[in-house]
Amino acid sequence: MTQSQSGSLPPVLEARGLTKHYAHVVAMDDCDFDLRPGEILAVIGDNGAGKSTLIKSLTGAVIPDAGTLRLNGEAVQCRSPLDARDAGIETVYQELGVAPALDISQNLYLGRERRRAGILGTVFR
Ligand SMILES: Nc1ncnc2c1ncn2[C@@H]1O[C@H](COP(=O)(O)OP(=O)(O)OP(=O)(O)O)[C@@H](O)[C@H]1O
Ligand SMILES: [Mg+2]
Repeated sequence: MTQSQSGSLPPVLEARGLTKHYAHVVAMDDCDFDLRPGEILAVIGDNGAGKSTLIKSLTGAVIPDAGTLRLNGEAVQCRSPLDARDAGIETVYQELGVAPALDISQNLYLGRERRRAGILGTVFR
């Protein structure tokens, strides 16, 4: 899909006014963005600008103090990474969160591999 095609489609993910404070520190201030199908959105900023806070807010690892998220037009409130995963939003963290002995797909599905049914799946996977 080209950029001009995706630009005419409704956003998959819309953030409005996302804000997070830690005491007197403003970690994220009134952040808005639209993410359309097929788009890749890069977030850049100085150290401490709030990039990680934004990503964590999308995946329920951080609960914003204010702001809204809409996924495919529906309001969502991810209170935990499991909520976000159920909604189809996940984070792949940098090197420390990756198992170098596994391939890319194994890393992506780490911890939720398909198991056999019953006790065999519990014990032997
Ligand atoms: N759990 C926390 N407790 C207190 N302050 C925090 C916490 N997390 C982030 N901050 C502060 O919020 C601000 C934004 O931090 P954040 O980690 O989101 O920035 P960043 O853009 O990801 O920085 P970096 O480029 O260093 O990864 C910083 O001032 C940081 O010290
Ligand atoms: Mg960071």
